[in-house]
Amino acid sequence: MKLAPALLRLLFAITLLLALAFLAVALARRPTPPISSTEAPPTSPSPSDEFAGQRDYLVDVYIEGAGINNPEVLEAMRSVPRHKFVPASYIDQAYEDHPLPIGYGQTISQPYIVALMTQLLDLQPGEKVLEIGTGSGYQAAVLAELEGVEVYTIEIVPELAELAATRLKELGYDNVHVRQGDGYYGWPEEAPFDAIIVTAAPDHLPAPLAEQLAEGGRLVIPIGPPGWYQTLWQFVRLPGESELTAYNMGGVSFVPFTGAGIESAPEAPVPTYLPTP
Ligand SMILES: C[S@@+](CC[C@H](N)C(=O)[O-])C[C@H]1O[C@@H](n2cnc3c(N)ncnc32)[C@H](O)[C@@H]1O
Repeated sequence: MKLAPALLRLLFAITLLLALAFLAVALARRPTPPISSTEAPPTSPSPSDEFAGQRDYLVDVYIEGAGINNPEVLEAMRSVPRHKFVPASYIDQAYEDHPLPIGYGQTISQPYIVALMTQLLDLQPGEKVLEIGTGSGYQAAVLAELEGVEVYTIEIVPELAELAATRLKELGYDNVHVRQGDGYYGWPEEAPFDAIIVTAAPDHLPAPLAEQLAEGGRLVIPIGPPGWYQTLWQFVRLPGESELTAYNMGGVSFVPFTGAGIESAPEAPVPTYLPTP
């Protein structure tokens, strides 16, 4: 019976050890607190705003996942806050891969199409690009993210031109120049351009735009009947050649190209088919 206190002490020590072990396991299994919605995921290279995770997902799945592979274009798409270019009532859809209304019967283009057209422009540092159809200013902002690129953009709807100019300025895009007017005639004072992008669909290639394309330049434009499907063309002014070479990039759907220029101009021939490069 003399052993009883020692046995009791041993039992007490074992119980204590078991309790401490249970406590350690319980603490290890405790769920980690969720990342607050205002924090970017720790691995995200995107600017830290509350939509960075959604933007990365859009780019990973619907843009890179759909074949866009130019790293600068992908980085630009990860950087531009599309939610700042859509009306407040559509913010919850800003990172879905489809166009959205921006008022005046116009739209902000589908992100994949923005990325595809940007990639087809093949912009290099120090180059000048002309955009016809500023709309919300989103495509212009994506172009402006590319290193050393100067962007000139023309919008025919005065209210949209003013809104886009203000928005781009507030977001710090000092390399974007917005003009209100009919883009059919291009921007002759700033020509030639290394690249031209048209984000509304005319039924023919406006001659002034072709004339304002520099040697070696690329012109990306949807051409086809208004209100229907059109063909996306990439025209290239190959060095030493007077005619543009055209590449058919597939079917697209854009809002119509409007204004006196397109309505009064004689229809120019459109290439019927050339294989993609
Ligand atoms: C699909 S929206 C452009 C989307 C725009 N790039 C964006 O990122 O939001 C087409 C735009 O082209 C404009 N547009 C149509 N015809 C035009 C013309 N002749 N000159 C300039 N802009 C024109 C429309 O008013 C409209 O804002």
